[in-house]
Amino acid sequence: MLAGKRILIVIGGGIAAYKVLEVIRRLKERGAEVRVILTRSGKEFVTPMTVGALSGEKVFSDLFDPTEEQDIGHIVLSRDTDLILVAPATANLIARMANGIADELATASLLAAAAPIIVCPAMNQRMWAHPATQRNAAQLAADGVRFIGPAEGRMAERGEAGVGRLSEPMEIVAGVESFFAEREQPKPLAGRHVLVTSGPTIEPIDPVRFITNRSSGKQGHAIAAAAARAGACVTLISGPVSIPDPKGVDIVRVETARQMLEAVMAALPADVAVMAAAVSDWRPAAVAQEKIKKAAGDPPPLSFIENPDILATLGHGRQRPKLMIGFAAETTDVKANAARKLAAKGADYIVANDVSPESGVFGGDRNSVHVLSAAGVETWPTLGKDEVAERLIALIVERLR
Ligand code: CTP
Repeated sequence: MLAGKRILIVIGGGIAAYKVLEVIRRLKERGAEVRVILTRSGKEFVTPMTVGALSGEKVFSDLFDPTEEQDIGHIVLSRDTDLILVAPATANLIARMANGIADELATASLLAAAAPIIVCPAMNQRMWAHPATQRNAAQLAADGVRFIGPAEGRMAERGEAGVGRLSEPMEIVAGVESFFAEREQPKPLAGRHVLVTSGPTIEPIDPVRFITNRSSGKQGHAIAAAAARAGACVTLISGPVSIPDPKGVDIVRVETARQMLEAVMAALPADVAVMAAAVSDWRPAAVAQEKIKKAAGDPPPLSFIENPDILATLGHGRQRPKLMIGFAAETTDVKANAARKLAAKGADYIVANDVSPESGVFGGDRNSVHVLSAAGVETWPTLGKDEVAERLIALIVERLR
C-alpha cells in the first residue's frame, strides 16, 4: 500500500519527537520514501543525524540555507509529495499552521503545500484542552487537515494525565495506510449527483410543541456517507437528528415535510434520489401562533391535514432523477405494502423494512430489508446499517452502468 509513496514528515519540538523515529522506520519498511523537515525546536529533541540515518535522506531545517534552497527549496519540498505528516504537532505549531504563519522552513513548506496534511498533536492535556488550541485545531479541520489523535494517557510531566499524548507509532502508520486506502478506492459514482433524505420531520402544533416519529437518521446518513465515499457529489437533506454529520456531503437541515420538499426541489437536478427520511404523513391543520394554554376544561382537539408526498412528487415529476429509491417503513404485510408503494410513488426500488418495535430497526444499528423492484423481491440478511448502505450503493452503481 505504501510502496513508492512520498511522505514528508514535519517533526515539531515536543518530547514525543523520539516516537516519530519509529514511525519513519515503519513507513520505510512498508516501502514509503520519507523526507523530513525538522522545526527549529524539533532539533532540540532529535538530531538531523539520527533522522537522516533512519530516513536515508538529507534532513531539511533551515529556510535560509542557500545550499538547501538550491538543492530542493521549500516549495518543491512540499509539492513533490503525496502526503505531509506533522508529528509531533505541538500547540505552537498547530497555532502557526492555523494562522498561516511561515516563520521557518517547516511552516513555510506547510503553507506552500499542495499535498494533503495529517496532523498528530502532542502536548500537555491542558494545552490541548485550551480554547485557543481547540479553536486552531477546528480551523485546521475546516481547512481540510486530518488528525490522528491525540491519545489519552500519562503525560511527560509527572502525575499528569489526560488527552494530549502523541498516538502510538503503529496507530499513526495505520492512519497513514487508511488515508491512502481511502484515496485509492474506486470512485464509481464520480460525477454523479446523489440526493438523500434522512431523519424524521417535525410538524409544529404551536411555538413549543410538535409531533414527530422515532427515525434516528442512521440509515439515511449511512447511505449519504457511502455515496460520498463512492465519489458522488451528495446533497443530504435531513430532518432534526442527533447523530454526527457524515463526511464529505452537503447538508441541508430542515424541520417540516414541506421544507424537505422545497429543499429537495431546490437541489435538483440529480442522477439518483434515495428517500430514506421518515416524513410525517400529516401535519396539524392549524399551527397556533401562541402557546396553547392549559385552559380549564377539555384538552384542545388536534386535527390533521396531509403533507405532500416528496417521493411521489419527485417520482412522477418532470425533473425525475434517473434512478429513484424509496423506503417503506411497515409494521405488517411488509412486502405487499411495499409493492404498492413501488408503483404508487414512481420509484425504481423500494427498500422495505419492518419497523415494528420488536424489530429494533428504528434507532437501532441493524436493519433487515427486502429490496423490491420491477424485477421482483430480494431479501437481504440482517446487516449493519452501514452494510445496507454499501450494498445499496453497489446496486446503484450497477443500475447506472
Ligand atoms: N415519503 C415521502 N413523503 C411523504 C411520505 C413518505 O417522500 N410525505 C417517502 C419516504 O421517504 C419513503 C417512502 O415515501 O421513501 C415511503 O414512506 P412510508 O412512510 O413507508 O410510506 P407512506 O407513503 O407514508 O405510507 P404509509 O404511511 O401508508 O405506510
